[in-house]
Amino acid sequence: MARVSVFGIGYVGVVSAACLASDGHDVIAVDVDPRKIKEINDGLSPIVENGLDDLIARVVKAGKLTATDDVQYAIDNTDASFVCVGTPSAPDGSVSLTHVEGVCRNIGKALASKSAYHSVVIRSTIVPGSTEGTCIPSLQEASGKLAGRDFGVGYYPEFLRESTAIEDYYDPGLIVFGSMDKPTDDFLTALNSGLDCRIHTVDLRTAEMVKYTSNTWRAVKVTFANEIGNIAKASGLDGQTVMEILCSDEKIAISRYFMRPGFAFGGSCLPKDVRALKHLAAETGVNAHLLNAVVEANEAQIQRAQDMIEASGVKQVGFVGISFKPGTDDLRESPLAELAARLIKKGVDIDIYDPYVYEAFAANNSSSGRGNDVIPDLKERMVADIDTLIGNSGAILVGNYYKNTVVTLEKASKTLPVVDLTRMNRAMKSEGRYQGICW
Ligand SMILES: NC(=O)c1ccc[n+]([C@@H]2O[C@H](COP(=O)([O-])OP(=O)(O)OC[C@H]3O[C@@H](n4cnc5c(N)ncnc54)[C@H](O)[C@@H]3O)[C@@H](O)[C@H]2O)c1
Repeated sequence: MARVSVFGIGYVGVVSAACLASDGHDVIAVDVDPRKIKEINDGLSPIVENGLDDLIARVVKAGKLTATDDVQYAIDNTDASFVCVGTPSAPDGSVSLTHVEGVCRNIGKALASKSAYHSVVIRSTIVPGSTEGTCIPSLQEASGKLAGRDFGVGYYPEFLRESTAIEDYYDPGLIVFGSMDKPTDDFLTALNSGLDCRIHTVDLRTAEMVKYTSNTWRAVKVTFANEIGNIAKASGLDGQTVMEILCSDEKIAISRYFMRPGFAFGGSCLPKDVRALKHLAAETGVNAHLLNAVVEANEAQIQRAQDMIEASGVKQVGFVGISFKPGTDDLRESPLAELAARLIKKGVDIDIYDPYVYEAFAANNSSSGRGNDVIPDLKERMVADIDTLIGNSGAILVGNYYKNTVVTLEKASKTLPVVDLTRMNRAMKSEGRYQGICW
């Protein structure tokens, strides 16, 4: 069992402190608010939360949880600290790190006179780079010690939801953390090992980003459901029924497939159907804020790819894929065809390798090049194989993933600029000539 101090007896801190104590750890809660300290020491919960009154009464009575404002006492009598203070919005919308920084300084001062190893784990929600850019420098400056060597540092975001916080603590949907040092990593791994949830061990910045991604994703889902509800209501329909039916489709609607950062959507359905729903909303007097933003953001992703190619300065570009997705020769509203057309207009010479579109032209299918209304000389630009494409090109744009091209393209990226919109190999990093569109 561990000895843990929890800084900040707010929502996150008090639930964590009580649950840790209930699991048998010795917990010291630290706050600047004397009322909260007294309440905890009296065995009372400072917040309203299902089951927390009983839990706190039990663990305080058992001597497993105490509260104090004495930082030195808390640091000297524990092996790890959780920082759970608030990170409100600053007036400009940025995250305010004032409390986190203050606590790190206080902990740092206390660490100066402590010889035993101590891990400082930030649990407050802070933007990527904050642990490295604010917390670690504050801790080091105040302690005169080196993070990762003299004391440990981790970032371990909290995902509990108010009203079901204790339940979420014992049955989390997500566990992720990053740490600078092995003792902190071991401590956090051991702490979570009994839970039925995969543990994601990542770097500090990725852990920070996952927390914001999770909260923002939930916000987007709520807003999407509301917008569908607004549009449905204006058409005399029940949006809740519509969304319930949508959510029953775990194969396509609630699919991971569409949750992978990459290139713009296109094809015969999504663009036209988003436009039509936007139009229906406008006709019925509903402002479809999110749908408008979806169209705008999709267009911006095509522009982003164009900017990357133009930045390379290369005037002879080979496209791997031109149809709207691999496995089909359908070019209707293909964002790749749109991108190629824009580059051609800017004077870039484009050759294209796309086995499905090529096959349709070679077989002289009646619908070969179907849906293409942006590249007039598409047939002449098609090449038969990937080697010919690479031989003809000063840069490569990987638009569709074709398994048989990956090894050749990886080799090509050693000598040619390669802009990858698909992430053909998960292990490849954007560096040197190889650049991924959003990784
Ligand atoms: N509330 C949630 O459901 C939730 C869930 C996950 C993550 N978070 C994140 O966790 C963090 C804490 O959120 P919260 O809602 O628990 O905050 P809160 O505002 O309820 O509590 C913060 C506590 O920190 C104390 N504090 C401030 N300065 C201090 C200092 N120098 N030393 C000791 N204590 C100090 C305050 O007195 C207060 O009791 C935030 O970053 C938040 O975004 C919140």
